Amino acid sequence: MSEPVYSPGLEGIIAGETAISTITDGLRYRGYDAEQLAEQGTFEETAYVLLHGDLPTADELAEFRKRLAAAAVLPTEVMEFLRQIPRTAPLMDVMRSGASLLAHWDPDTADNSHAANLRKAERLLAQLPVVLAASSRLRRSKEPVASDPSLSLAGNLLWMLNRLPPTPQAVRAMDISLTLYAEHEFNASTFAARVIASTLSDLHSAVVGAIGALKGPLHGGANEQVMQVLEEIGSVENADTWVRDALAQKRRIMGFGHRVYKTGDPRARFLKPWCQQLAAESGHESLEQMAEVIERVVGEQKKLPPNLDWPSARLYHYLGLPVELYTPLFVVSRVSGWSAHVIEQLDNNRLIRPLGRYTGPGEKDFKPLAERGTPGTG
Ligand code: CMC
Repeated sequence: MSEPVYSPGLEGIIAGETAISTITDGLRYRGYDAEQLAEQGTFEETAYVLLHGDLPTADELAEFRKRLAAAAVLPTEVMEFLRQIPRTAPLMDVMRSGASLLAHWDPDTADNSHAANLRKAERLLAQLPVVLAASSRLRRSKEPVASDPSLSLAGNLLWMLNRLPPTPQAVRAMDISLTLYAEHEFNASTFAARVIASTLSDLHSAVVGAIGALKGPLHGGANEQVMQVLEEIGSVENADTWVRDALAQKRRIMGFGHRVYKTGDPRARFLKPWCQQLAAESGHESLEQMAEVIERVVGEQKKLPPNLDWPSARLYHYLGLPVELYTPLFVVSRVSGWSAHVIEQLDNNRLIRPLGRYTGPGEKDFKPLAERGTPGTG
């Protein structure tokens, strides 16, 4: 037998098969170009493609939207729990707890059949935006706002967050961002979800684990850090020096670099013009100029192109959203991709259990306690 392959961080390793998305020649969800879905479709159509395998007909979409609207309400007990969570708790932690709590009231939690998993996935897709909006309002000492079934998921999310009718531009920008965040093959959080599913655990547990994996700043948490960096830099004039100093100190510039896109993240390129347009409409042109300088210097110094989190953070800022919402918004979208992967894993399951390469000491003999002496006495 040949020596097992070892690659730190599983870099370059094919860790499983998937028919859900590919990044080989641009990003495609079940064959559909993600950019085309963002430009011509909606997030609901994207989620349908991911969960059900193909674009919906008009009737299928109407039924799907009806199911989502009906599920966009939390059990009273879950809402009560959300009220008890300390207002200082990071919203990603609240999302993780919210997904976990919802399992207790889901009638299908323990049913791992394909049909039950689809039902649970659709419910989580509808419920997690409500968890986010309600928790965000509670920490601002505002009462949660009921979901409006006449609105799209993106529009409803903005409505539930702000209790103000969102502008068509804001809904469109949110919808595009949710579509681009929806799925990305074997990224860390999706892989975590698949590992959990592979033990024949359940969909809610897999989503809870995925939220934990997404939270880290090397993954989804990067979009919040991007905004913190932009705030820290503060002005176009500071940008050049700030980035050079940060790179000289070996700091990572959040929103740049990618494990698999070494020549650039197509999602970031796609979102940039939308960012510029929103910046112009909301009077944030100087922030775009600052971003341009940072992009140039990171490109010159490290040859690192921006990833999706780079424009997403600015887009959310131009929509007037507080920074603490940015990574949870990623959850609201990516739950569609995670769920599709859990279902795919379970449809053809094999326990994910790789090997570790041992780097510890060689064999040692057990010494009875009385023979071990005391520290420092030899
Ligand atoms: N800023 C500065 N230097 C960087 C960065 C960065 N953002 N990313 C990579 N490098 C450097 C790294 O220090 C290393 O330099 P050297 O060879 O001198 O030691 C070199 O580039 C290669 O880095 P790496 O760590 O081997 O690359 P990786 O493939 O393991 O890392 C990454 C991918 C995303 C973890 C990394 O690029 C990073 O930390 N980026 C910042 C965090 C971020 O934006 N994450 C979002 C990822 S994409 C969307 C998502 O998942 O949310």
